Amino acid sequence: MQESFSVVSSSNSYQVQIGENLLEQVINKHKDSFFIIDSNLKKIVPIKFKNYIFIEATEKNKSLEKIPEIILKMREARLNRTSHVVAIGGGIIQDIVTFAASIYMRGISWTYMPTTLLGMIDSCVGGKSAINILGYKNLIGNFHPPKSISIDVSFLETLNNEQIVCGLYEAVKISYAKDIETFLSYLDCSPKLPLNNSTAQNLISKVLKTKKWFIEIDEFDQKERLILNFGHTFCHALESSTDFAIAHGIAVGMGMIIAIQFSKNENLLNDKGIERTELLKNYIKGIINNYISDLLEKYPKLDLNYVLKNFDNDKKHETNSYRIILPKDDGGLVMINKDKTENARQKIIKAYQEGLKIVGYPNF
Ligand SMILES: NC(=O)c1ccc[n+]([C@@H]2O[C@H](COP(=O)([O-])OP(=O)(O)OC[C@H]3O[C@@H](n4cnc5c(N)ncnc54)[C@H](O)[C@@H]3O)[C@@H](O)[C@H]2O)c1
Ligand SMILES: [Zn+2]
Repeated sequence: MQESFSVVSSSNSYQVQIGENLLEQVINKHKDSFFIIDSNLKKIVPIKFKNYIFIEATEKNKSLEKIPEIILKMREARLNRTSHVVAIGGGIIQDIVTFAASIYMRGISWTYMPTTLLGMIDSCVGGKSAINILGYKNLIGNFHPPKSISIDVSFLETLNNEQIVCGLYEAVKISYAKDIETFLSYLDCSPKLPLNNSTAQNLISKVLKTKKWFIEIDEFDQKERLILNFGHTFCHALESSTDFAIAHGIAVGMGMIIAIQFSKNENLLNDKGIERTELLKNYIKGIINNYISDLLEKYPKLDLNYVLKNFDNDKKHETNSYRIILPKDDGGLVMINKDKTENARQKIIKAYQEGLKIVGYPNF
C-alpha cells in the first residue's frame, strides 16, 4: 500500500510518497533526467536511463572541494535551467545533490529517493544541505527542497543493523522532541530490529509527519526546529574525536543520553522529567544492548579531554557560552546557554563519563 502527503515550504510544496517498489515508477517517470546514485547501489538500481553518475557516499565526497567535479559532469550532460536531477542514496548523496542542484544555473529541480533509514525517516524532508569544507564537517549549506520525495522501503532490505539503528535514533529524537504523547505513541510501535517493510512504512510515515510539523512552523531553523538538534552537540564531538568511526545516528543516541545526564546533574528535571528521560534512555540502551553491542567493542578509545576540545569547537556555540539543547522540567526540550567556565567544562566531562558508561562504551 502506498501513501503520500505534502510538505509546505517557502519555495515550493513537495509531495512525499511512501511504499514498496517505487524505484521502477520513478525511473520510468524521469527517464530523461540526470541521475546521481550512491555507488553502493550499482547492483540494485537498474540503469534504464542515459545520463547518470555514481558517487561513493563518503564524507570526503560531501565536500565543497568535490562539488566542481559534479557540476562539470552536469554541464557535460548538457543540463540546462529546465533540467531535472534524480538523487538515489542516503544522507550523503542527499546533501551533495541538494547543494549541487541549488547552485547549478542558480538552481534546478530535483527528486529524492532516500535509501537509508536515516534518509527516509528524517533527513529527506526539510530541504537542508550540509557540506564539509577544508575538513570542517557540515560547515556550509543552504536550503533547496526537492520537487518530490519517493520513499521505497524495499531499499531497507540491504542495510545492516548499524544503519537501521542510526535511523531509529534520529526517529526517536524527533518523536521525543515533539511532546510526550508523540513520544509514547512512537514507543507503542515498539520500533526495533528486524524491521519488516510494513512496520518500517508505518514508522516512517508517523515520524515524517512529526518532522513536517517542525519544518512547516520553522523552515529556516530559527526557533521550534532548533530543538531537533537534541543530542547533536554532544554527538558531533564524539564523531570528530573518533575520526567519524562512530556513525552519526549512533552518536546521536549516545549524545541524547549524555544530554540527559547533564540535565540531571544540573537538577533541571522534576519527577515527571526524570520519568520521561528514563524511558528514552532505556529505549536507546536497549537497542544498543540487543543489536549493536559488538560494535561498541570496535570503537576507538576516547580521550575525554580531546572530546571536550571538539565540543568547545562546535559551530553552534556562542563566543562566551555553550548552546546546548537539554531536557528540562517535565522533560521537554529547551535551548540553554551555559557560560564557558571551568566548572561548566567539568560538568560536561562528567556527563560524557556517565553517558558513555550507561551505553557500555568500553574505552574512555
Ligand atoms: N541535510 C540534512 O538534513 C541531514 C540530516 C541528517 C544527516 N545528514 C547527513 O547525512 C549523512 C549520513 O547519512 P546516512 O546515515 O543516510 O548515510 P550515508 O549516506 O552515509 O550512507 C551510509 C552507508 O550506507 C550505504 N547505503 C546507502 N543506501 C544503502 C542501501 N539501501 N543498502 C546498503 N547500503 C546502503 C552507503 O553507500 C554508505 O556506505 C551525514 O553526512 C549527515 O551529516 C544530513
Ligand atoms: Zn542528525
